Amino acid sequence: MKRLAVFLLLVTSAPGSMAASENLPLDSVYINLSDKASLQRGARLFVNYCLSCHSAAYMRYRRMAKDLDISEELLKENLMFAGDKPGDLMRTTMPADYAKNWFGVVPPDLTLIARVRKPDWIFTYLRSFYLDESSPSGWNNSLFENVAMPHVLYGLQGNQRLVSKNGADNGKPVFTLEKAGTMAPEEYDNAVRDLTNFLVYLGEPVKLDRYLLGVFVMLFLGGLLVLSYLLKKEYWKDLH
Ligand code: HEC
Repeated sequence: MKRLAVFLLLVTSAPGSMAASENLPLDSVYINLSDKASLQRGARLFVNYCLSCHSAAYMRYRRMAKDLDISEELLKENLMFAGDKPGDLMRTTMPADYAKNWFGVVPPDLTLIARVRKPDWIFTYLRSFYLDESSPSGWNNSLFENVAMPHVLYGLQGNQRLVSKNGADNGKPVFTLEKAGTMAPEEYDNAVRDLTNFLVYLGEPVKLDRYLLGVFVMLFLGGLLVLSYLLKKEYWKDLH
């Protein structure tokens, strides 16, 4: 009983913003960790657009490159800041006190973000930024109200305006694209899916190994099935 009480206390005292956004309808995203090309594109977006503010400090560049079949040259050329080494952790170059001054909060580490916020949440979040002149950054987000993060992907998505907070099907928000980005809407959705896919990988890199292990186990069990069947036939042959 006591345990239940503690559990309920923990659940109900979750951070306010998180509890509030949990009720909002999310768009669902298809995650496929065996799609290496998608994970590679996601890694590239992550390094180019997110790592300047957020760290992924439980991951090393070299481990990521190995898991995603990225060669060391490609890693060095495209996916690392100058001065970093492949063995380094993926840390942001932005000092925490600078970020705190600039945004009011330190951008959280993103290594485990896909486990804290589910993939659907991240996918929706990155597609829900809209122009808001009253906010300090000039941006707001319909899923995470008054978020301190600016819309860093606006060059790709373009500038959205919020038409209605819950006017669409299932109470979802409606946006209009005021200025197009370099990507068409579908293209942008795919890019955000790749990025979300990558963040899911970051949160659980061993999942890739587990998939492979799963295949071996199935093959092994399949082989065993054939052997047992043959054995059964052999035994019963004499009895008939
Ligand atoms: C210019 C700095 C900056 C960049 C670049 C940036 N972010 Fe953020 N991000 C922030 C800040 C600041 C917050 C904290 C927002 C708050 O709490 O109001 C944040 C929060 C978040 C959150 C929500 C975390 C939570 O509280 O659950 C996610 C998810 C996120 N960022 C993902 C990304 C991704 C993915 C990228 C790359 C496409 C990115 N960010 C690029 C500054 C940045």
